[in-house]
Order: sequence, then C-alpha cells, then structure tokens
Amino acid sequence: MVGTKNYTIENFITATELDAMVQDVAQQIVRDFAGQEIVLVGVLDGAFVFLHHLAQALFNLGMEHITIDFVGLDTYGAGTVSSGEPKITKDIKRDIKGKTVILVDDIVDSGFSLSILQAMLGARLPKKLVSAALFSKDARRKIQVPVEYIGRHIPDEFVIGYGLDFDGRYRELPYVGIVKFS
Ligand code: IMP
Ligand code: MG
Repeated sequence: MVGTKNYTIENFITATELDAMVQDVAQQIVRDFAGQEIVLVGVLDGAFVFLHHLAQALFNLGMEHITIDFVGLDTYGAGTVSSGEPKITKDIKRDIKGKTVILVDDIVDSGFSLSILQAMLGARLPKKLVSAALFSKDARRKIQVPVEYIGRHIPDEFVIGYGLDFDGRYRELPYVGIVKFS
C-alpha cells in the first residue's frame, strides 16, 4: 500500500486482470475490424499505457496495419473532479479522412473529453470513428457519448495506475488502485 497523511491507495485491479481486460477489448476490435487498416488515436496523457498494451494485443491477434497518433487533452489540473471544460493541447499529426479511427482513452467519466474529441475528429470525415476506454464510471456521466469498447465498468471512485494519475503521480503503477481520502 502506498500512502501519505492525506490519502491511502487501495489495491483494485491486478496487472493480470488488466491484461485480460485489454485482451478482451482487442478481441472485440479484431472481430469488428479484422483485415482493415486502423488508426489508434490515444488521448494523452492517461491513455499511453492502455494504448501500448492494446496495440500490441492487436498485433498479436493478427491486425497488420495499425498507425498510432495522439491527441493531448487537459481536464483535471490537480483535482479529482473534472472541470467540465477539457482543453485540446495537442492535435493528431496525420489526416484521418476516409480512415477507420479508434479513439483510445483511459477512462470515461463525465464524457466531456470524448465528446469533444469525437466532434473534432468526426468533422474530418473518417470512414468510421469509434471509441475504446479501459474504464467507464457510468454513474458520473454528464453527457451521453458512444463508447463502443469498454474494459470495465467501475464505481464512482478515483482510480490511479496503468496510465491514470492523481496530480501527475502513479501513472507508472502496473496495477490500478483506488485513492481513499482521509
Ligand atoms: P471526462 O471528460 O470527465 O470523461 O474525463 C475523462 C478524463 O478524466 C480521463 O481521460 C482521465 O484523464 C480523467 N479521469 C477521470 N476519472 C479519473 C480517475 O478516476 N483517475 C484518474 N483520472 C481520471
Ligand atoms: Mg485522460
């Protein structure tokens, strides 16, 4: 257990369970897009770990033509409650017109981030645009947004690890924990 005087971190999802979740999402994507060219667009910063494991799982399942790009989005600052006004800090590098694009995010909370990104990328006329998230906190959704692939639905708790941060920390953890405030 990692801890300071203000909060502790409880174990939540093990690295092995995360592997299985990623495999599951990868299999669904392969089922839907086998043999096609896909563009994975990771949402920085949090999605980098999920994207890395997902891309390798897709490769291992035989997806042969994958390109990877990133968008930057700033949502939280130092807090644990979404400001509701995500700012785009980095655009993708390549044209996605006519391409099959999978937006890859770590977690869908209010839904504002994905919704802004879907509007932005959708306007560039991809052939298809779908979204994948490692986690969804359904109870916190403020805007309905389609998320075709979800690793796991989780309760309204603040989670860290596997790319997810609390004030910039804990992204490196190979497992996922819950921040418990005291
Ligand atoms: P949304 O715009 O409210 O859906 O926020 C989504 C973004 O907020 C995610 O991509 C994360 O970066 C961040 N976020 C939401 N919930 C958590 C959490 O429990 N831990 C860490 N980051 C989170
Ligand atoms: Mg994020």
